[in-house]
Amino acid sequence: TIIVLDFGGQYNQLIARRVRECNVYCEVHPYTVSLEKIKALNPKGIIFTGGPNSVYGEDSPQCPEELYQMGIPILGLCYGAQLLAHQLGGKVETAPVSEYGRTELTVNKDSVLLKDVSEKTVVWMSHTDYISKAPEGFKVVASTPVCPIAAMENPEKGFYAMQHHPEVNHTQEGTKMLEAFVKGVCGCKGDWKMDSFVEDTIKSIREKVGTGKVLCALSGGVDSSVAAVLLSKAVGKQLTCVFVDHGLLRKNEGDEVEAVFGSEGSYDLNFIRVNAQERFYAKLAGVEEPEQKRKIIGEEFIRVFEEEAKKIGTVDFLVQGTIYPDVIESGLGKSAVIKSHHNVGGLPDYVDFKEIVEPLRMLFKDEVRKAGLELGIPDYLVYRQPFPGPGLGIRIIGDVTAEKVKIVQDADAIWREEIANAGLDKEVNQYFAALTNMRSVGVMGDFRTYDYAVVLRAVTTTDFMTAESAEIPWEVLGKVTTRIVNEVAGVNRVFYDCTGKPPATIEME
Ligand code: XMP
Repeated sequence: TIIVLDFGGQYNQLIARRVRECNVYCEVHPYTVSLEKIKALNPKGIIFTGGPNSVYGEDSPQCPEELYQMGIPILGLCYGAQLLAHQLGGKVETAPVSEYGRTELTVNKDSVLLKDVSEKTVVWMSHTDYISKAPEGFKVVASTPVCPIAAMENPEKGFYAMQHHPEVNHTQEGTKMLEAFVKGVCGCKGDWKMDSFVEDTIKSIREKVGTGKVLCALSGGVDSSVAAVLLSKAVGKQLTCVFVDHGLLRKNEGDEVEAVFGSEGSYDLNFIRVNAQERFYAKLAGVEEPEQKRKIIGEEFIRVFEEEAKKIGTVDFLVQGTIYPDVIESGLGKSAVIKSHHNVGGLPDYVDFKEIVEPLRMLFKDEVRKAGLELGIPDYLVYRQPFPGPGLGIRIIGDVTAEKVKIVQDADAIWREEIANAGLDKEVNQYFAALTNMRSVGVMGDFRTYDYAVVLRAVTTTDFMTAESAEIPWEVLGKVTTRIVNEVAGVNRVFYDCTGKPPATIEME
């Protein structure tokens, strides 16, 4: 294990991902983590992240001095590098010139971490302070025109420091630098692989669960699907999955989930599909306000799940599909991006269970996908684009009716099919059809129509926090428009949403 000690840097998760890409397991912990915990984890190396503070600021985050005496190799990055310099007797000052962005680094080839990178290599810098004097015993191994100590090393003690960020893509040989630390210096073998994760997790679930009963709310999304399959491989029929079909899923989606997980599917588990469509439509009747709709759907979801759980009776474990980004707390104590208001449900109040199992707690999203593939889950489930918990409920502007759900499902299916036919499905990160609450006059055949307008949405984004409207070729838009007005009754106009986020959001409500 490598520990990434987080001092509040914006790239903390990225460091962990890069290390894992070297097939070395690592965990992110806040810099306040206790020495006991660090000892218990028995790490082969520790990486200090960057952070927004200045080491000589009054309340600047520091690590206990004992950490330097444990004989564990330490690599400091950015703020972490400065902290190392500061705590070991060097000097850190405000740099005469700040460095931001791409910078050329001049490397001394006689370095442990940088010996395999080019003599001039492009790195990503982002700092206003710099190390002005290296502590005793350190050798300076890289510099830039304005940063004389851009990297320094004390191999005897196992201390290394880099002012730049090897974890970001802009640092061209960054992975090599990190690999030199985790493998070269720390001696990690690099044998952490998804198949061993899957195997180990199944084993540890078995140990934890024993003969207990397990309950899982399955949504058909990638996280809950992978969690369910792991559990099913571990404890088979001791697992019951409840799949609530709230009638706000995409076209055929309920049947697809059932085909994979139901009795005809290939997994050993108890699968319960609850067809609660009518119940949700009844609760939503006449409700137009977006937040109220979200609340109703979320609450009703919990009620339905609880009713099923009651029928099953006391269970020992409840499965949660929590993934690592939800778990990592920033080193400065602020929690990571919270999206709880985004999720249907949360923990049900009245389900009788003793403990929670979170088999994906340590995985990033792309690792969850890898685990899914490893487990043999079909590609279309593993690579499913995000689908909001409230489903089509927030893709129908205004009140929801069964008729509108049908319209949006059919239009959406055509849009998705044509995006895939045009080979755009890998480029566009999220795309769907929504229904405006607007009807307008049209003419079809020789008749006047007064029908709904569908809006097509497609965005490119990396983190879904900001997004751009995707440039879909006109001919694709034209073809989809024709198909939708011809094939979907009740629609006579199609719009394309050209708005980015901000100012819009990805979903309509
Ligand atoms: P917005 O509309 O906020 O969406 O730009 C950003 C991303 O989050 C998804 N989303 C949700 N996901 N439950 C979820 O699990 C929700 O209630 C929810 N609302 C939005 C949305 O699809 C997009 O990917």
